[in-house]
Amino acid sequence: MRVSVIGCGYLGAVHAASMAQLGHNVVGIDVDAKKIALLSAGKTPFYEPGFAELLRECLAEGRLSFSTDMAAAVGADVHFLCVGTPQSADSLAADLRYVHAAMDSLGAALGDSPPTVVAGKSTVPVGTARALAEKLKLTSPNATLVWNPEFLREGFAVKDTIQPDRIVYGLAPGGEGQWAAGVLDQVYAPILARETPKIETDYETAELVKVSANSFLAMKISFINAIARVCDATGANVKDLAGAIGIDDRIGKKFLRAGIGFGGGCLPKDIRAFATRAAQLGGEDLAELLGQIDRINLGQRSWTVELVSRLVGPDLAGKTVGVLGAAFKPDTDDTRDSPALAIAAALVQRGAIVRIYDPAEAALLPAAGLGVEPTGSVAAAVGGAQAVLVLTEWAEFKELDPASLNGLVEGRTVIDGRNALDAQRWRAAGWDYHGIGTR
Ligand code: UDX
Repeated sequence: MRVSVIGCGYLGAVHAASMAQLGHNVVGIDVDAKKIALLSAGKTPFYEPGFAELLRECLAEGRLSFSTDMAAAVGADVHFLCVGTPQSADSLAADLRYVHAAMDSLGAALGDSPPTVVAGKSTVPVGTARALAEKLKLTSPNATLVWNPEFLREGFAVKDTIQPDRIVYGLAPGGEGQWAAGVLDQVYAPILARETPKIETDYETAELVKVSANSFLAMKISFINAIARVCDATGANVKDLAGAIGIDDRIGKKFLRAGIGFGGGCLPKDIRAFATRAAQLGGEDLAELLGQIDRINLGQRSWTVELVSRLVGPDLAGKTVGVLGAAFKPDTDDTRDSPALAIAAALVQRGAIVRIYDPAEAALLPAAGLGVEPTGSVAAAVGGAQAVLVLTEWAEFKELDPASLNGLVEGRTVIDGRNALDAQRWRAAGWDYHGIGTR
């Protein structure tokens, strides 16, 4: 089939290559000429395991191309809308300007061309899809909108796109919605053939499924982090506790890793946008719950800074801290709302000299602007440090031999912000080990 993907950021670029991999002819469109030039040359604007190989393979086979011209979308059976919905500059709400701009530009290009499906994948506040569907009809009466949220995780983006847990269609009422569902079924045929669960519903439910899923995940993390504080106060161990409660499959083991909290381009801004939307709709209790999840999460960052000052002296001025990890999680170079960088920056604000290292070089780019010194290795980051902070659980850090750092640091104090290290091994090498909610 012919497919267009509008917006070639994280979601769109991976979606475009994945649709080509399923056998479709795909054009990816973005207003950012630099990004389009990079992608056309088979280069990736971000690090994502497996994506570069897939991109080059699909470009070489001629099933994937990129353009800055919306006219290139005309004639496609399905247009996937994959533009970003970041947090607004002046509030906690989602900034929908890119979604509207993309929809306007697509609508103008389509005009009254033959029947086609527009599939919205961006994360939007409930009510957006219905408004977009009405707007689309004004310019393109033969185009039908489906809301088809994406649930991919960075680091697993290709796998999550080609082998999703579930597919959700938010459909227009009646025959038109059913027709559009049939077209999308053809695009996703190889995925549906594996009996991937598919939920057909209305626009509002589809929009809410996405933000509810992210809110629930964020809630699990903030829940276990709040428990971790009580563990710290009592000497209990949050890792053992999470393992024990997770055995109950009504709770589940996943997303109960206590630490410095969640970050990234999705969870933080999605819970804030949802809280804002819930409050507008009279859902005050939900807005409060989401606000508390956010506060607990941000509290983990200040707690970590306090822990450093407790361990190396209340006055951090002139103290040297080595930070391992800048990305918001391992296997990505994404630093959007990264707890690791936020903690490093807060330590600088308190007067500390902070050196940082991340295996993904691009994750170090924002450091200098925050007054944090980027380095090229673990040894360079921890050299002369009074405390070492492991803030992103990259394999390189989990596998570190603590004894090999002994001669480099000034003080053998380590804060394991992700509870990812082998505490016994670090202690055996003479380190004062501190986890989050673990002894
Ligand atoms: C998330 C959702 O998982 C995904 O379904 C959605 O489509 C987009 O948002 P992503 O942002 O890639 O994906 O990251 P995720 O793996 O969910 O991790 C988010 C953050 O939570 C990271 O900072 C991670 O370190 C943190 N986290 C995760 C914890 O602190 N504890 C956990 O137990 C799990």
